[in-house]
Amino acid sequence: MSHRAVTTLLFRRCLSTPATALLTSSSARTSRKLSQRGFASLQQKSSGSWQTAAAGRPRCFSVTSTSRSSSSAAAATEVQYESEPADRQYSITIGDIEARRKRDGRLVAGTAAMADIDSFKTFPAWRQLPKARRWDHILSKESAAREPCVLKQAARHLKKPGLISLGGGLPSPEHFPILNMSMRVPTGQTEFTEAAAASEDGGATVSMGKYDASQALGATSGGSGPAEYDLSIALNYGQSKGSAQMLRWVTEHTELVCHPPYSDWSTCLTVGSTGALEQALRIFCDRERGDTMLTETYSFSTALETAAPLGIKVLGVEMDDQGMLPESLDDLLSGWDVKARGSPKPHLLYTVPSGQNPTGATQGAARRKAIYDVCSLHDVYILEDEPYYFIQMPPYQRDRPATSTPAPAQTSDEFLQSLIPTFVSFDVDGRVMRMDSFSKVLVPGSRMGWLTASEQIIERFVRHAEACNQGPSGFSQAALYEIVEKTWGHEGYLKWLAHIRESYTQRRNILLDACEDHLPAGIVSWTPPAAGMFHWMKVDHTKHPDHGKRSILELEEEIFDLCIEKGVLVARGSWFAAQPDQPQTGMYFRATFAAASASAMTEAICRFGEAVRESYRL
Ligand SMILES: Cc1ncc(COP(=O)(O)O)c(C=O)c1O
Ligand SMILES: *[C@@H]1O[C@H](CO)[C@@H](O)[C@H](O)[C@H]1NC(C)=O
Repeated sequence: MSHRAVTTLLFRRCLSTPATALLTSSSARTSRKLSQRGFASLQQKSSGSWQTAAAGRPRCFSVTSTSRSSSSAAAATEVQYESEPADRQYSITIGDIEARRKRDGRLVAGTAAMADIDSFKTFPAWRQLPKARRWDHILSKESAAREPCVLKQAARHLKKPGLISLGGGLPSPEHFPILNMSMRVPTGQTEFTEAAAASEDGGATVSMGKYDASQALGATSGGSGPAEYDLSIALNYGQSKGSAQMLRWVTEHTELVCHPPYSDWSTCLTVGSTGALEQALRIFCDRERGDTMLTETYSFSTALETAAPLGIKVLGVEMDDQGMLPESLDDLLSGWDVKARGSPKPHLLYTVPSGQNPTGATQGAARRKAIYDVCSLHDVYILEDEPYYFIQMPPYQRDRPATSTPAPAQTSDEFLQSLIPTFVSFDVDGRVMRMDSFSKVLVPGSRMGWLTASEQIIERFVRHAEACNQGPSGFSQAALYEIVEKTWGHEGYLKWLAHIRESYTQRRNILLDACEDHLPAGIVSWTPPAAGMFHWMKVDHTKHPDHGKRSILELEEEIFDLCIEKGVLVARGSWFAAQPDQPQTGMYFRATFAAASASAMTEAICRFGEAVRESYRL
């Protein structure tokens, strides 16, 4: 940044629109409402030093300009922050997004159009935030060697009026044998249930035709003008980072939820987080360099299986019921001895902050910040894998009123307030790549998600995508666009997320009730999960009659086999060990409450209890 800069902006109060000004006073009310409903205590519990749900989310952002202007107004503007990151915090509202869209007018983005992510940002002062750090020093040789796809680049000329393309391999849509696609979906006007979606007032049939976005057709469609997206665009080749139409929605949603505190943040679509992680590991890790990925002691098995064949070493950092321990992370990195370890100091952390797979652990706000700070100190880049972020639940209560099932209607603002901040929300360095996925909150078969990271990293990722999957399927983009953009909008999508989390909360409660009722106390113990789909049960191996004679792995195998015999499948804790070559220190089993019906879940836990009792000869 230029040192000729003369203007100092102190970010204190900025968005002076009435909608935002109201936020500060409404947040106190919101926090009271939330605490009545148990959400504030959810956050208190999981974070320790967190005060209230509302206090945790950035509220105000305004600019006090103390410009001592002495050179041209066009001179580079340097932004200084009184103290960071707090003063970089801002928030936008759905109203702000709507106002920006109104100003922008219709999105014109035809076949293979390049999306300009910056043009989808709503916060007016985003350009004045400092830029992300550069990550050239940790890029793999493979990633650094990637060049832009010449054919995709050529598509930028397609928007020139009158241009006749004989250049690319884009087929003409007249040869696409699909005229339109339609789906029946819940509108959210009443409820989001299957019954509501089928009903007159709770559901809608949405459809996309082949030429909906072309002027000629739009003119005849009742004066509403042409659509912004259609099958001729969605089903043709597109840019690997995703269609502008979907990326606009994703960028807005991300700004609403994460409000990244640096200017050059960006987004791109992914073919789900599984593949995104594989691409990310190939951006940041080099087999020849002997690179290591840090993660929790117990980590998502697929992530471990992704790292292993790439020749990436994996180290598990100690954890508790809030996930990774920042002190252990710091100890590991501070004491790193390159010679003794035979590999360079790790520069990459993979973590699942909410409802971690497999342990169900959820990092509170203070925990997240502490992990981030340790990563800053040791210059570690963070991969934040968050498929369960929106499935954050109120605390489990054994003796809740039986009739308390239907949740009171929640506003989208309340919903956002109740969420623990993301790593991206305090990522002043741009050292986080956040992976979002539609899998757990919409449909896994969409094979679609998105990244939030600095422009440099998004660009490297997209270069890779151009030479492998070319981004998500046009069918998926079209279908999800119809739901989240056309039917629900941001407000409706947040309502949907609140609905989904309510459903999973009920499922969790049923599973935990069954555990309380049917598992041998004193042998099986757990922390009630505060997010996600997983319940992690510790079975005290020291109480086993064969303790000391048989290994933990042998006992775990015996219980697993007994479970299968009795008709229940649970996952063995050892499957998720980040370092399977290290001896196990405890015996664990993972159960998911995502799939089975209420009665089947209870029966399954009974069977699991029987298996444990039989092994323990009780
Ligand atoms: C932690 C975690 N990350 C990623 C995924 C996969 O997500 P996607 O369907 O987007 O590939 C899962 C699914 O189980 C998961 O638990
Ligand atoms: C799909 O296209 C056919 C043929 O043009 C038309 O009759 C039908 O109404 C369209 N369906 C929808 C849902 O638009």
